[in-house]
Amino acid sequence: MLEHFFNPSSIAVVGASQNPGKIGYDILNNIIRYGFKGAVYPINPKAKEILGREAFPDLVSVPSQIDLAIVALPSPAVMEVIEQCGRKKVDSVVIITAGFKEIGPEGGRLEQALAARARELGLRVVGPNCLGIIDTASALNASFAAGMPLDGHIGFFSQSGAMCVAILDWALGENVGFSRFVSLGNKMDISETQIMLSMEHDKNTRVILGYLESIEGGPLFMKAARQVSKKKPIIIIKSGTTSAGAKAASSHTGALAGSEHAYNAAFKQSGIIRAESMQSLFGYAVAFANQSLPKGPSLAIITNSGGPGILAADACEKSSLHLSPIRKETADELRSFLPPTASVYNPVDIIGDAPAERYDRTLEVILRDHAIHAVLILLAPTAAQDPDAVARGIVRLAKDSDKPIMTAFMGQKKVKGARKILQDHAIPSYEYPEDAIAALDAMLCYRRAQEEPERQYQHFEADRGSVRQVFSSVIGQHRHDLIEKEAREVLKAYGFRLPENHIARTTKEAVQAASKIGYPVVMKIASPDVLHKSDMGGVRVKLENDSMVEDAFFDITANIQLRQPDARILGVMVQEMIPRGKEVILGITRDIQFGPMIMFGLGGIYVEVLKDVAFRIAPLSVEEADAMIREIRAFPLLRGVRGEAPADIKGIREALLRLSQLAMDFPEIIEGDINPLLVCPDGQGAVAVDARITIHE
Ligand code: COA
Repeated sequence: MLEHFFNPSSIAVVGASQNPGKIGYDILNNIIRYGFKGAVYPINPKAKEILGREAFPDLVSVPSQIDLAIVALPSPAVMEVIEQCGRKKVDSVVIITAGFKEIGPEGGRLEQALAARARELGLRVVGPNCLGIIDTASALNASFAAGMPLDGHIGFFSQSGAMCVAILDWALGENVGFSRFVSLGNKMDISETQIMLSMEHDKNTRVILGYLESIEGGPLFMKAARQVSKKKPIIIIKSGTTSAGAKAASSHTGALAGSEHAYNAAFKQSGIIRAESMQSLFGYAVAFANQSLPKGPSLAIITNSGGPGILAADACEKSSLHLSPIRKETADELRSFLPPTASVYNPVDIIGDAPAERYDRTLEVILRDHAIHAVLILLAPTAAQDPDAVARGIVRLAKDSDKPIMTAFMGQKKVKGARKILQDHAIPSYEYPEDAIAALDAMLCYRRAQEEPERQYQHFEADRGSVRQVFSSVIGQHRHDLIEKEAREVLKAYGFRLPENHIARTTKEAVQAASKIGYPVVMKIASPDVLHKSDMGGVRVKLENDSMVEDAFFDITANIQLRQPDARILGVMVQEMIPRGKEVILGITRDIQFGPMIMFGLGGIYVEVLKDVAFRIAPLSVEEADAMIREIRAFPLLRGVRGEAPADIKGIREALLRLSQLAMDFPEIIEGDINPLLVCPDGQGAVAVDARITIHE
């Protein structure tokens, strides 16, 4: 896939320059200097030869086939090069040139025209506005970066060229090898999705790393990531997520959503590991690229001091790892050579003065213990210690072990050499224990995700025709918000259980409705204009008799007339009161990148304050619905605390899946929530008590 970009037989540099310091010079120089084996053609109308290679005035004059063209000409000249690529049948192009959509509408139009023409000609394009590409296995450095990474197994793509050069410099400093570097630039054609797919098939890439500011085509990206992450870990740092979009929203879901949640959900659902900082991106990258995945959660910590051991143990506690209890046989063996003041329990504290030999023997014994799945070795340098010798011992023992071994040699001056020895031998070396634990945790979560069974999707019978009718009637009346009666109809068509209710226009009708339903009842304002009914005094609950119903009717209508005088009042809804249950909220919102997103959280009036909510991109699988329910902090309340009956979790799951299906079937729903969904005790289902839906044509 994209073979000509990463393994071309011939390259032309259009805009190759004879002047050192120009980008066209640097690119040609990098291609030649780092040993690209194929043919290289400088293209420059004024030169006969550049850097010892015969130059040609244009692409068409080159006598042989060209697999890849790198374009480093000012933006107005790029279109002509695209035309020439078409004529010369060059199918892969990297456009380095800046001055397109990133500079404003005019540049944007130029880029669109380029993209359209490239598509017509069947060209694939990386860029424009990029640094270029590197493939270490092909000794190809078609970029103007200062340096060439070492051979390795990390494939990196980045929307920011600056991030590419920063990572490259870090990699050179830390001896970390890379398979590929791709600077995506403006992503006029090739985006992160195609690059991930190409890295899936690249035998030299074991780990895929990305820096992204935005994502093109969310659903396709998720599909590709889901496929690729089954084979290779994808670690992404995503910057620039804001909650600006959430501010204008009118529903609870809209107010709580925002692109940050969408990205988190999308990454989670596609198996992407999200790095929260550059430090963790690097930390995860070296761990995944160089160590095998832990076979289980049991971690042993070897340390020469108590403090760092406790820090590591604390970090472990907060992760999915756990401190392995040391088996008696292992403890006895450790005791046989460790000083009496040492601790043979986890963390295994081998005491401040521990020489290299003590580290060696301890590690050897720990690695032999079958109950331990991973080891973290900590070292705080004391006067007598030789950290280099400790590092060499670890390198030796790690060779014969299939367990991940991480290290955190703390300090700077005294441990510098030791850390280099570890890095040179692919043993992840961190400054602090927490970083090592975070990387191991990510590896364990990735492994567990690999072992998860295929996701199950459930389909429900639904009356789509009725929903379509409701929506066209709402749009016909130039409205966007459904009134409660309409929202109920929609939910009913999708099989939700709803409380019985009737609209009453007079007190008499209200009393009649209440006696038909049976006491106690709930009453709510019926108005297309009142969105937050409780806040406006538009809801009364637990009405036990006729006179309470009459009073409530007066109160509710008076409150609305007072607080929202322009609201149209259709009457008051008299509703069956669902006796007991836990209130949860379910919501739909539509993310600009990823499409419909489903929310779940603890319901009632506290939802926006506590923000105890979980999001996933629709369509939800059964497993994803379950994960959402478990994810909220209040989950123990649903399971039942202090002898309370557990709530019907299956009822919530079914409601989430039905809502997901509704969101997928009707793209016109832009927001909505069921608040509350009253969840009855286990086995008795869940009832959608109140709902709000907003649509768009
Ligand atoms: N075909 C081939 N070569 C041509 C040409 C043509 N039609 N027209 C001119 N050239 C030659 C020029 O003569 C020059 O060679 P010379 O130095 O030997 O005279 C060379 O191509 C480059 O053209 P020039 O006009 O000097 O461009 P430049 O080097 O000043 O700028 C870019 C070109 C692409 C570097 C510049 O437009 C640019 O976009 N810079 C920013 C790049 C960037 O930041 N990208 C994003 C990184 S993340």
